[in-house]
Amino acid sequence: MVFSTRSLVLSAVWSSTMGVIADSSFNWDTLLPSTKLDWKPCYSGIECTRLIVPLDYDSSAAGNATIAIARYPSTSSKSDYLGPILLNPGGPGSSGVDYVVEVGAELATLLGNEFDLVGFDPRGVSYSTPAVSWFKSDAERALWVPTSGYPALDESANAIAEQWARAQVQGQLAEERGQGYLQHITTDNTARDMVRIMEAFGQEKLQYWGISYGSALGATFAALFPDKVGRVVIDGVLDMDAWYSANLTVEETDTDKALQMFADGCFAAGPNDCAFYAPSSAQITANLQALLASVKTNPLPVITPISYDVFGYTLLKNSLFTSLYSATSLFQLLAEGLANLAKGNASTIYTSFVQVPPFECPADSNSTSPPIPFHHNTFEALWSIACNDASAVNDTVSELQQFYFEAQKVSSFADLWANWRVVCSGWKVHRPGRFSGPVQAANTSFPLLVVGNTVDPVTPISGAIKTAQAFPGSVLLTLDAVGHTSVNAPSTCVFGYLREYFVNGTLPEVGTVCTPNAPVFPSSEGNSTASGRRDLKSSEAGRAIGAAQRRVTGH
Ligand SMILES: *[C@@H]1O[C@H](CO)[C@@H](O)[C@H](O)[C@H]1NC(C)=O
Ligand SMILES: *[C@@H]1O[C@H](CO)[C@@H](O)[C@H](O)[C@H]1NC(C)=O
Ligand SMILES: *[C@@H]1O[C@H](CO)[C@@H](O)[C@H](O)[C@H]1NC(C)=O
Ligand SMILES: *[C@@H]1O[C@H](CO)[C@@H](O)[C@H](O)[C@H]1NC(C)=O
Ligand SMILES: *[C@@H]1O[C@H](CO)[C@@H](O)[C@H](O)[C@H]1NC(C)=O
Ligand SMILES: *[C@@H]1O[C@H](CO)[C@@H](O)[C@H](O)[C@H]1NC(C)=O
Ligand SMILES: *[C@@H]1O[C@H](CO)[C@@H](O)[C@H](O)[C@H]1NC(C)=O
Ligand SMILES: *[C@@H]1O[C@H](CO)[C@@H](O)[C@H](O)[C@H]1NC(C)=O
Repeated sequence: MVFSTRSLVLSAVWSSTMGVIADSSFNWDTLLPSTKLDWKPCYSGIECTRLIVPLDYDSSAAGNATIAIARYPSTSSKSDYLGPILLNPGGPGSSGVDYVVEVGAELATLLGNEFDLVGFDPRGVSYSTPAVSWFKSDAERALWVPTSGYPALDESANAIAEQWARAQVQGQLAEERGQGYLQHITTDNTARDMVRIMEAFGQEKLQYWGISYGSALGATFAALFPDKVGRVVIDGVLDMDAWYSANLTVEETDTDKALQMFADGCFAAGPNDCAFYAPSSAQITANLQALLASVKTNPLPVITPISYDVFGYTLLKNSLFTSLYSATSLFQLLAEGLANLAKGNASTIYTSFVQVPPFECPADSNSTSPPIPFHHNTFEALWSIACNDASAVNDTVSELQQFYFEAQKVSSFADLWANWRVVCSGWKVHRPGRFSGPVQAANTSFPLLVVGNTVDPVTPISGAIKTAQAFPGSVLLTLDAVGHTSVNAPSTCVFGYLREYFVNGTLPEVGTVCTPNAPVFPSSEGNSTASGRRDLKSSEAGRAIGAAQRRVTGH
């Protein structure tokens, strides 16, 4: 999932500057919305279209929405063509268009060129319309959105009370300014939109790969339309009851284990390969705790060529949390950042994990980068989908304090993660009759492939196990790795099973466990393993996809 603007994303950073590669080069207003897929060239190697769907599937009076869709087209002959695979990179609220624009080619390397690889912006998100927002301008958004991560709820004594009050403001703004459309921006409606997309492709059944929050979308689809499941992969799987009840505490079950793997991996790697090395794993953990305590009372000034801030407890917590999403690409950076921080220099860790360029009003700016388009609404889209989906919660400050107290028993990262509950406590919009579980089906028209990492900091494998049980016949594929979803711990083994599943409908044997290509702390002596070399292509494609997934979702 997402959690960040920087950190609350089922995978997320809240920066409106994330994933903007797609922006500058194409104007979606030039595409006429249609009930057909009217493909036009848009970005390099990509075709785009806008599909009309009902805003409210129960009433045409509510008017229409449009879904922005981008495909990396299949290059195979008509007889070899195997249809579209729809993709969701997580969030919620992240742009599937940006994802395919960035890594369509790499996805084709892994899955095959027999497929159209299709990214779409779920309703309310980015280039889809209406794009959800309760800000009247980018400047208004920039003044409200926490740029460098949600405040840690244990940073100060009044943090929960203050975040509660902000949540009330946000909930009321959203309600007042989102009248007419906001209640329809939900996962069940996006699942219905996926049926429309499939049908427009001329397909009877869905082919889909959803990661993180995309698991909630895929599983909800399978629960609502069990007879339309063609090939559905859910990867980095949420606990669906948690998702629909605004209580994501269970998602942090393995987060501290992931941090422990940092300490263990650093110790095992040795001083040459881990800059934060100490002569035992316990000592590394103790040094880290000492740093957390130190910046809490003595935050450090930080100025880099592109930004500046005060680096304190919240930013360090967010940096740690972000690094857990992708051990193989971020643990070494974290170690360097911590080592410099211990010397009183916060610039490395700040630059690597939480730096966001200061907001500039487009009109005032002489910056060479293009203005940030208003539809980069990752923040609003995330909270709209998350809180619209969840059962109404109405917690008081003291109830939230109790909630946080309980959540702390599950993870030391509850100070960041409990913000989900806090934010949704101020939410006022809930469409009556929306789907809210249980997420299950006695029989789907094809078994789901469910992928879970053994140490995932935001979607522990318990969610994959539970969801696999809710869809009899589905198969759990385990990736023995630390990190969030298979794309953040590239494994040729996993990618091979994905391809076999999509191409031939072959499921892995029950109990199959894959390993990642790269270790947590790659050795500076170069030589990855023999299998790492052999699988260079899929390793590289996987790394690129993981990096894009983190960019698009804001981690
Ligand atoms: C919604 O789209 C349908 C299909 O194109 C169209 O018939 C209908 O008039 C549209 N409704 C509105 C309010 O534009
Ligand atoms: C939230 O979930 C956790 C873990 O499943 C549970 O212990 C706790 O009681 C739940 N809290 C609420 C308010 O439902
Ligand atoms: C902090 O570390 C960075 C990266 O090593 C370096 O460029 C910078 O000069 C250091 N800043 C200070 C104040 O020492
Ligand atoms: C932008 O650049 C122009 C030309 O260099 C300069 O005259 C103008 O003052 C600049 N505007 C701002 C807002 O910095
Ligand atoms: C929320 O709290 C208000 C005031 O205490 C109460 O009137 C309302 O019924 C509550 N709503 C829910 C969904 O619990
Ligand atoms: C499940 O559905 C398939 C096809 O949709 C059907 O062939 C099969 O008999 C069903 N199995 C059960 C247990 O209902
Ligand atoms: C699909 O099955 C065919 C026939 O058994 C086999 O030749 C091919 O290698 C399989 N493709 C994949 C990707 O597993
Ligand atoms: C790296 O790989 C090369 C070529 O396979 C081999 O000759 C070399 O010994 C390896 N180095 C290490 C440190 O494993």
